[in-house]
Amino acid sequence: MRSAAALACILGFIPAVAVQQRGEAAGDPSRGEYIVENVAMCVQCHTPRNEAGDLLRSRLLQGAAVPFQSPYPGLRWANTAPPIAGLPQYTLEEGVRLLTAGVTRTGTPLRPPMPPFRMREQDARDVVSYLKSMK
Ligand code: HEC
Repeated sequence: MRSAAALACILGFIPAVAVQQRGEAAGDPSRGEYIVENVAMCVQCHTPRNEAGDLLRSRLLQGAAVPFQSPYPGLRWANTAPPIAGLPQYTLEEGVRLLTAGVTRTGTPLRPPMPPFRMREQDARDVVSYLKSMK
């Protein structure tokens, strides 16, 4: 009787844990938006600007010319930041790897000025969940 109760307990517990882990794995898009807009500043490079230099909010994260040049001649340098709204080219796990380890989907090295982020995993999940929630 006691073991039956214990078994029922465990069986009840397992799905609850699984659901919780799935929730965590997907990330929190609203916290991701906060990081993208206010902490990691992805918007500053990945959003185009008008002639006054203001971000064009109607084209949020749709790719842009990098607004500054490398001060080091000969350095590998990217002059454009690609569109990342929706992040269609990356799976969630690939995006997490990019932001926690700096490894791109194809394994090619990232060129500066894209920062080699070393986010904590949950932060990266939140950011990727937000990007994927954009149309
Ligand atoms: C200082 C400017 C800058 C900031 C800030 C920045 N990026 Fe980038 N990002 C770039 C540039 C430039 C590239 C292109 C790099 C290249 O072509 O090697 C890039 C490339 C990327 C790519 C494409 C990687 C690939 O597979 O080629 C992704 C995804 C990305 N950035 C996401 C982000 C996210 C998410 C943030 C914020 C957490 C962010 N970036 C912040 C400049 C920036």
